[in-house]
Amino acid sequence: MSASTAILEEVASLRVQLERHNRLYHTLDSPEITDADYDALLARLVSLEKDYNLFSPSSPSNRIGAEPLPGFTQVAHEIPMLSLDKVFGEEDLRAFEARLLKRIEISSEIIYSCEPKVDGVAVSLLYEKGQLVRAATRGDGTIGEDITHNVRTIRTIPLQLSGEGYPAVLEVRGEIFLGKLGFAQLNEQARLDQSKVFVNPRNTAAGTLRQLDSRRAAKVPLQMYCYSVGLQEGGDLPDSLGGIFEALAGWGLPTNPQREVVESIERCIAYCEALLEMRNALEYEIDGAVIKVDSLELQASIGSNARTPRWAMAYKFPAEEKSTRLLDVEFQVGRTGTITPVARLEPVFVGGVTVSNTTLHNMDEVTRLGVRIGDEIIIRRAGDVIPKVVRVLAGSVNPAPRAIIAPTQCPVCGCAVEKEGDVLIRCSGGLICGAQRKESIRHFASRNALDIDGMGERIVEQLVDAELVRDVSDLFVLEASTLMSLDRMGVKSAEKLVASIARSRRTTLPKFLYALGIREVGEATALQLANHFGDLMLLQEASVETLVAVPDVGPIVAEHIVSFFANRANIDLLSRLAARGVSWPAITVVSPESKPLAGQTVVITGTLEKLSRNEAKARLIALGAKVAGSVSKSTTIVYAGPGAGSKLAKATELGVEVADEAALLALLAALETTSDAPKKAP
Ligand code: IVH
Repeated sequence: MSASTAILEEVASLRVQLERHNRLYHTLDSPEITDADYDALLARLVSLEKDYNLFSPSSPSNRIGAEPLPGFTQVAHEIPMLSLDKVFGEEDLRAFEARLLKRIEISSEIIYSCEPKVDGVAVSLLYEKGQLVRAATRGDGTIGEDITHNVRTIRTIPLQLSGEGYPAVLEVRGEIFLGKLGFAQLNEQARLDQSKVFVNPRNTAAGTLRQLDSRRAAKVPLQMYCYSVGLQEGGDLPDSLGGIFEALAGWGLPTNPQREVVESIERCIAYCEALLEMRNALEYEIDGAVIKVDSLELQASIGSNARTPRWAMAYKFPAEEKSTRLLDVEFQVGRTGTITPVARLEPVFVGGVTVSNTTLHNMDEVTRLGVRIGDEIIIRRAGDVIPKVVRVLAGSVNPAPRAIIAPTQCPVCGCAVEKEGDVLIRCSGGLICGAQRKESIRHFASRNALDIDGMGERIVEQLVDAELVRDVSDLFVLEASTLMSLDRMGVKSAEKLVASIARSRRTTLPKFLYALGIREVGEATALQLANHFGDLMLLQEASVETLVAVPDVGPIVAEHIVSFFANRANIDLLSRLAARGVSWPAITVVSPESKPLAGQTVVITGTLEKLSRNEAKARLIALGAKVAGSVSKSTTIVYAGPGAGSKLAKATELGVEVADEAALLALLAALETTSDAPKKAP
């Protein structure tokens, strides 16, 4: 349909009316019509534009978002978008001025523009003939992303500049952010929808701007404060920041009302103090103040470094502290078994996020803080760091204090809790603990353990989450038809995975021992244990005294081994594994003196391509060799790979024999006698 003059006029008038009401509502906070009336006008405009094909980039209909984009386009910033150096106190600000005075000749005081440092996302808006044509993120300062579609939905950003005298090309820079109220509303809605809550306003703003679907962005009440001008052609701009702010505001661009132009660094310091005072009362998050030289001419003569201007400084506020109550302490078991006390708090908004739990790190920290459940405590949080419990609030009353007591049994699997070092505690349940399930299965299947090809982290994750696998023995009863229910798993890959699980049943004792994930039993120790005992039963029954006789095994490792086999659940798991066909060839135990490389000292240097250095070392040790870290006269042979340096030189100098990895592999192949014959240890 082609539009009549009457239609064109109605569309033009609707656009003007809607932008006016938009401004009255969002910027001036004095609406003249109800939301419903606004929505009706907007609906009429959208339908006319659609019927008569009247799209315009500056139409208010853009505010509701459009079809998702296929991807982001990059935008090069002709004038780089700089970042700011930081200072943390008033003395630093005085030092900043002292540095400025060294660079410039000035007879009067320097005038500064003081602005809140809004915690959001730096963006660039490009206006051509007053029309918003492009919006981009800062990116790395040189190249950002085109986010025009999302920025058009931000109600306080004019799609068309108002007033007069704006340059034909005008690039405006500033910070897009989400206010505290908008953030709270969004989270309220998220709770109602039972969807994920947002962590903090800044991440929410950044995430929103990175949406391909602008209809989603339209639902987030983002705002912007403009603070500078980049590109500019055709037109004169004021020669001071103060003047620029006024000009921008005159063209309908949002600027921060909390900014101030002051005439000395002492006044800047006073500004920062006052801003800190009113921080909590502001409707948006700030993380400091920005102090800039006000005169553009002075800015130009002071100049910039590669990434930051010399004429501006971010004054960062100290970390924020708030008081709240410790409601409870839970002990959380990590994926490797470490148990951490986690504080459950009465939710408190501090340093830009709502904190309702945080780590107490360990029991030493609990003791140091002298904290009990029910205490009023001080929480500190700055930037992106984890909130910290600083102390118990002095003089606060705890009507029913409860002591925080470390568990003696793992809260997840009930296995005994062990001490690790002086302060840490951990669950001894390894293979059978629910919290450690994924990690233990991943380790069990890993290359140097049972080497189940195709059993990647993603698969383990799904198998555990779908409760198809509770412990590693369940792997051996998986069927292709079950595996096919997993994400992106076709018939072929399911069958392949079942085949590699089947293959992995036949393993070696060292690999199996390593796969069990006994604490501090790495590949080398596993190999030593296998060669010493030759048989799992014998190892299972070994005492600490017997174990410490094994090379590489100290009293602590010995304790870990004994406690692993003392756990009934582990023994049950071993029998399930045996019943499901996991087996290995027997090993002939040889006394140390009669091992083929007994008495030899070997050094490995440079890169090995076929073997890991640990594996090479373990296999040489198993054959009776000593593996040393440096070359001396007593070195028997040096195996040198590519990149060998000083050790190789030393060997040549001392006349020590040198060979390559191929020779090492040949030696190992010739001497390793593990055979498939079922020999039992004596
Ligand atoms: S001026 C050349 N002014 O802080 C100066 N930045 O650490 C460039 N920011 O990337 C920035 N409020 O995201 C400036 N009033 C303000 C600001 C501000 C927040 C952010 C901005 C910038 C970062 C620098």
